[in-house]
Amino acid sequence: MAAKKSIPAGAKDQITQQWHAKAKEIQQYGQVVNDLPHPLDKNVRGKMVDKLNQLLADSITLRDMYKKHHWQVSGHTFYQLHLLFDKHFDEQVEIVDTIAERIQLLGGVTIAMGGDVAEITKIPRPPKGREEVPVQISRLLQAHKLIMQSCLDLADAADDAGDQGTNDLAVSDVLRTNELQSWFIGQHLIDTPLVFPQ
Ligand SMILES: [Fe+2]
Repeated sequence: MAAKKSIPAGAKDQITQQWHAKAKEIQQYGQVVNDLPHPLDKNVRGKMVDKLNQLLADSITLRDMYKKHHWQVSGHTFYQLHLLFDKHFDEQVEIVDTIAERIQLLGGVTIAMGGDVAEITKIPRPPKGREEVPVQISRLLQAHKLIMQSCLDLADAADDAGDQGTNDLAVSDVLRTNELQSWFIGQHLIDTPLVFPQ
């Protein structure tokens, strides 16, 4: 009979964390899961995932631009824009999560990290420094317009492909929120008198 292995004295103090794990990716970016319990076939899901990833990259960029402007805004409308930009940031956080989770549930892989997002977004990169309020808002409006056009294109493509879930997301979640946000910030670029009529 083999001798029972004894536990060395003080072993309980030798707990280690296995935090250097490395292995191959389990699914590469661009790959779509073959067989899912979902009625849409792989080709349709793949096509939708590509378009959703573009919308995701642009929405992440817009989300981050809202935080940049929240921090860097200045001038006599500082307080209201500081708060409004942050409200829109929070709403874009929700949009980003909704798009990303649809990509995953369709069997795709989300774009996620800033460097990868920067490679594919169509929204022009703002400078690192501060800009005046009209310039900040113009950049946001430009981004909103680009995203709204993507939503319209995606909704049509999803409808043609029979992907009503993506169609609904593009219109109900992303388009409608971007329309409202665009209206709210765009009104700040109309020159109206503060005290005396023009
Ligand atoms: Fe803040």
